[in-house]
Amino acid sequence: MTSDPETSDPETSEPETSDPVTSASETANAGQPNQHYFSEEPEVESARKRIEVTLPDGSFEMETDTGVFSHGRVDAGTKFLLLEAPELPTSGDLLDLGCGAGVIALTMARRRPECRVWAVDVNARARRLTSDNATALGLRNVVVAAPDEVPTDVSFAAMWSNPPIKVGKNELHDMMRRWMPRLTRDGGAILVVNKNLGSDSLQKWLTDNGHPTKRLASRQGFRLLRVSTESR
Ligand SMILES: C[S@@+](CC[C@H](N)C(=O)[O-])C[C@H]1O[C@@H](n2cnc3c(N)ncnc32)[C@H](O)[C@@H]1O
Repeated sequence: MTSDPETSDPETSEPETSDPVTSASETANAGQPNQHYFSEEPEVESARKRIEVTLPDGSFEMETDTGVFSHGRVDAGTKFLLLEAPELPTSGDLLDLGCGAGVIALTMARRRPECRVWAVDVNARARRLTSDNATALGLRNVVVAAPDEVPTDVSFAAMWSNPPIKVGKNELHDMMRRWMPRLTRDGGAILVVNKNLGSDSLQKWLTDNGHPTKRLASRQGFRLLRVSTESR
């Protein structure tokens, strides 16, 4: 078993560049050229690795895999979100946008057994992994889905995400345009983004586009952003 070593994933720890969003490495973490952690069907051979996730409210084990973000560890930005995010709502639907191996969704589901947690990802291997992890932990309140599989009448009382910055600015903004309006009126989103990967420009873009966004916390280059629905 690997204990959470707190090392940074290339996604959230790349050096600053002139345009950090679009010039970041496109091959991070998937093991071979033209393979991304956000491929719909990663081709790199699967090599699942078990890790332990240690949080103040309890520890649990889960599997990670090649071709899925943060193989063999919990990303440092994700850990920051799990440690610092405000309390979750006590009822309703919750969203982990870009679930990867599922560490955010699994934590939400453990913290709020009375809520339904949607774990959404474009990467089919990530979805299988999250589903297997939820089953192994006996978490029956996790629903794993591709983006198009989430019914349009579902609204989210909260969304937590370590968003896929490396998909590029346009696609990232499309994701925000797609999912932010699906928060309930008193809902909100918590995002973790590395400063060097454009957290401040994403914060400004969200605010300029009708989603008032504040910095909740900052540590070791990570920004925890709270996106509110107050302008609606
Ligand atoms: C930075 S990773 C975070 C993974 C996981 N939540 C964690 O913290 O370890 C972002 C995830 O977003 C997924 N993703 C990329 N484009 C997406 C999209 N359009 N809709 C949903 N998920 C997407 C990627 O496949 C990837 O798993």
